[in-house]
Amino acid sequence: MADTQRKILATYALPYANGSIHLGHMLGFIKTDIWTRYQKLRGHECHFVCADDAHGTPIMLKAQQMGIKPEEMIAAVQKEHEQDFADFRIAFDNYHTTHSEENKALASEIYLKLKENGYIKTRTISQLFDPEKSMFLPDRFVKGTCPKCKAEEQYGDNCDVCSATYSPTDLINPKSAVSGATPVMKDTEHFFFDLPAFEDMLKEWTHSGSLQQEMANKLNEWFEQGLQQWDITRDAPYFGFEIPDAEGKYFYVWLDAPIGYMGSFKNLCDKRGDLNFNEFWKQDSDAEVYHFIGKDIMYFHSLFWPAMLKGSGYRQPNNVYVHGFVTVNGAKMSKSKGTFIKARTYLEHLDPEYLRYYYAAKLNSRIDDLDLNLEDFAQRVNSDLVGKLVNLASRTAGFIKKRFDGKLAAIEDKTLIEQFIAKKDAIAESYEAREFGKAMRDIMALADIANAYVAEMEPWKLVKEEDKLPLAHQVCSTALNLFRILVTYLKPVLPRLSQDVEAFMNIELTWGSLDADFANHEINAFKPMMQRIEMDKVNTMVEASKEHLEATNKPQVTGPLADDPISDTIEFNDFAKLDLRIAKIAKAEHVEGADKLLKFQLDLGGETKQVFAGIKSAYNPEDLEGKLTVMVANLAPRKMKFGISEGMVLAAGPGGKDLWILEPHEGAQPGMRVK
Ligand code: MSP
Ligand code: ZN
Repeated sequence: MADTQRKILATYALPYANGSIHLGHMLGFIKTDIWTRYQKLRGHECHFVCADDAHGTPIMLKAQQMGIKPEEMIAAVQKEHEQDFADFRIAFDNYHTTHSEENKALASEIYLKLKENGYIKTRTISQLFDPEKSMFLPDRFVKGTCPKCKAEEQYGDNCDVCSATYSPTDLINPKSAVSGATPVMKDTEHFFFDLPAFEDMLKEWTHSGSLQQEMANKLNEWFEQGLQQWDITRDAPYFGFEIPDAEGKYFYVWLDAPIGYMGSFKNLCDKRGDLNFNEFWKQDSDAEVYHFIGKDIMYFHSLFWPAMLKGSGYRQPNNVYVHGFVTVNGAKMSKSKGTFIKARTYLEHLDPEYLRYYYAAKLNSRIDDLDLNLEDFAQRVNSDLVGKLVNLASRTAGFIKKRFDGKLAAIEDKTLIEQFIAKKDAIAESYEAREFGKAMRDIMALADIANAYVAEMEPWKLVKEEDKLPLAHQVCSTALNLFRILVTYLKPVLPRLSQDVEAFMNIELTWGSLDADFANHEINAFKPMMQRIEMDKVNTMVEASKEHLEATNKPQVTGPLADDPISDTIEFNDFAKLDLRIAKIAKAEHVEGADKLLKFQLDLGGETKQVFAGIKSAYNPEDLEGKLTVMVANLAPRKMKFGISEGMVLAAGPGGKDLWILEPHEGAQPGMRVK
């Protein structure tokens, strides 16, 4: 037990219930899981809750598209999410959904309290409305031409081409992305949350010194821009909670989403019976509440959420811990490159502990993006976990088992062991401060010391001499004790490996037992605990991520590509085998008895080749004479009914009148290579 036991509630951002979990999401889940496992390892009371974020227009429309009820879809997605998390060993104390009774009750209660306290304003607004679907259109569901750069097919809130931001009514020629209909303006009465009323309280929080610097800077920027009233209403049809006393009006998904943190905790309290919801959420609670999130959703968590809690009489979170975005091989995750890797695809190829370790090794308390460089990932895991950590046990455990009855010696010289234990406070501080990278570096520095010790003592030589056996016993037992300490330090990061080590060493790895004495303690046989990462497997995973997307997310193509898709990729070497040349059509004539062919004499600037081409339906031979074109010059000659064809001219088009022969820009000379 820690000196003073803390009561902690930690959450991670609730993933949307309309898509699969990917390795970007996993960063935050792994980060929060490591931090909460660490708190539990220190003996604190810590609860980690999460849920699927199940409401909103995209979810409603996706279910419609699939032809199922939203309830069915979110249930299926939640099941998939929970399996992914379980397999990555994310140890939630509770995983729920925002589409729950608990959440509905809490959302209504909080809204009514805000209203009672004067923080809900009513205003009539004019919004784009899809007359075909009879629904108001969120910004992302209106498409049209950008008012600034005139790029077509841009969303209603910002332009992907020139990055301009605007409102959907500014779009030129707006269309509903749901039905394609031209939207009309329509009035509707909406409720707004009075965020500006909380400016002082939010500023005070910003200056309290507890926030991450980048977060405080962001907040100051927002204060400078001025806080706005927040529209918390969506009109039917909407998948969400109906607003009390307002038929046909629903809470905007972002109102009930953070309340989902409370909803999930309430659900846990009801299941357990020994946990008290109010003790954690009441105004003057001495429990701690932390929200872990990614940097894209800071506005909601650092402004709306604390203000909503304040305005409805609940406590505010102690902190919101923000992380950056995952990039893969230095770039944004990409579906075409195969670096948009789903959690499930990863699990089909690699051990989750690899990724847990790699993320830990690169995480700090700041908001920087984190690059998952796949080469570095394999190399780092192989060198640290396999080469340094597990190797320590695999090199020494066998001797204990075979030569010393499986029993550890009473250590005579504890210098090294004490040196390792002396690091515990520094490592604990790093975990607490979310400086996991620093913790991993400190731990691996110790692993280096332990390996150097074994290498120097060479127990494999000692065991060969009878009088050196006691020393060999000392060395192997010391090494295994050092290993035990290292794995205890790594327990929040590597739960599966820790479990295997606990079984192998026949102990429970706890913070309190770091300095326990294991003299004469009997251990079990060592079994391999972690394989090296083979780059082959990583590459197969990337390939699988590519294939997956081609099959499911293929963009809708129209035009020539629809009937005749681009062929399989070839290597440059294959292309280089083709010898394409500029050719002058010296002579073009009809062929007696042929209804499709024209006969050409092609001048390659010194050499002439005879070529037959099936373009009679589209060209008069006399119109072609004297013109330049492109030919395949190294095609094997082919004997045809009317003579030998020594190559091919290039043309495009479906056939008949619609055939177009290639012609180079002016200046090209016969004989020049096309490459
Ligand atoms: N449903 C909202 C959160 C509501 S919280 C009351 C949401 N969902 S999400 O599925 O889009 O994202 C869930 C979390 O994953 C967010 O913290 C988001 O920042 C994080 N990430 C999504 N893509 C990410 C990366 N590529 N890299 C790191 N984190 C990423 O937002
Ligand atoms: Zn634009």
